[in-house]
Amino acid sequence: LSESRSGITRRDALQGVAALGLGAGLDHALFGSRGVGASSRRGIEPTVAQAAVPFHGANQAGIATPAQDYLCFAAFDLTTDAADELRLLLQQWTAAAAAITAGQLYTPASQQEDEAPEDPGEALELGPARLTVTFGIGPGALERTGLTSRKPAELRPLPSFQGDDLEPARSGGDLCVQACAEDPQVVFHAVHLLARVASSAAVLRWSQIGFGRTSSTSTSQKTPRNLMGFKDGTANIRAEEEDAMNRFVWVKRGDGPAWMAGGTYLIVRRIRMLFDVWDTTTLEGQERVFGRYKVSGAPLGAAGEFDPIDLHATRNGEPVIPASAHIRLASPQYNAGQRILRRGYSYSEATEAGTGEIDAGLFFIAFQRSPSRQFVPIQRRLAAEDALNHTTVHTSSAIFACPPGVTPGGFIGEGLFR
Ligand code: HEM
Repeated sequence: LSESRSGITRRDALQGVAALGLGAGLDHALFGSRGVGASSRRGIEPTVAQAAVPFHGANQAGIATPAQDYLCFAAFDLTTDAADELRLLLQQWTAAAAAITAGQLYTPASQQEDEAPEDPGEALELGPARLTVTFGIGPGALERTGLTSRKPAELRPLPSFQGDDLEPARSGGDLCVQACAEDPQVVFHAVHLLARVASSAAVLRWSQIGFGRTSSTSTSQKTPRNLMGFKDGTANIRAEEEDAMNRFVWVKRGDGPAWMAGGTYLIVRRIRMLFDVWDTTTLEGQERVFGRYKVSGAPLGAAGEFDPIDLHATRNGEPVIPASAHIRLASPQYNAGQRILRRGYSYSEATEAGTGEIDAGLFFIAFQRSPSRQFVPIQRRLAAEDALNHTTVHTSSAIFACPPGVTPGGFIGEGLFR
């Protein structure tokens, strides 16, 4: 390092700049005259591009946050067994996420002007676009780093379910990052940057791009449609339902290790839709699969989307909502009163040459307080009886513990190391 005339090394100066939050000056040094957050992209409202979701708080953002339109999800494998290196990675990820969710370039204290910029820069000028970055820790990470005594009983690999056709290389992981925003390039950038930041301690294992939220997670949102054309998210938990969030989503003190209080468990399932079957099913047949009308989203036998579901109603001696209907089997009435927070995205991949088949469907994401009492029994029932199984196949699966949120100066998962 070259000593400056005032006796302060360049590294000291850079650290000072970063500590003072004056990253913009250094960004200028690294990226010349290209400013940050100046404009938005075509098709994205400037007010949406400039909107930021606070990164700090009691819970991590990206869970109760009204679901944004784009997702980039990534699972990582640790390349170290040292708890100190895991801690350093979580500290660096926290710093990077705090910067980019505010629409700033990430410039670590160690950045040297003659080194490749840590931040690849493709989100420059795009604004935060409501970016949230949510971190999770997989079952293997704590054992690997000698933190087994801190492992919650709920953080167990999921059992296999009837009909699963999982691709191991696209399942599991020691750590995960869920980036959601209103701009596809902003979510890609988040994972690109965080993979780069992780490079000495973790490598990307698999990732998934999602377009189009398939759930409403706030009363302020209209219910979107999934790729089967049905409104999805109607009976979901809304962030405004504070009691339900506390009962079904946020981990409480006493549920397990203290470091998870205020956190939640994240389950992802990549569910491919078999359109050759689905697209040749009659409208009535499709509606019987879900137990709802396609256009209005109302439960069968009712008129409005949000009308109550009557699982006891019969017509000519037959249940109006069929025994194998998705909403019957997923209903709290069939699952000991349990609910989950769904926050999934539609996905679509390039068609494999010569197959003519579309690989698209739902990248299902659910947050819950207790996988063993919520997702697992619900999915067991669905896997055995759901009419939807004739037209879907689960190809990827993973579970992660999402620690609580942080205050400025803290880092995600800090409680693990106390
Ligand atoms: C490709 C797969 C899936 C599709 C297309 C799908 C679609 C839907 C649709 C259209 C609804 C009705 C509207 C609504 O309330 O949101 C619904 C409800 C629901 N789904 Fe799914 N779903 C899928 C997989 C799953 C899985 C794997 C689970 C959990 C294990 C699940 C849990 C639920 C729950 C809890 C409800 C609300 C039931 C109620 O209380 O009325 N879904 N889903």
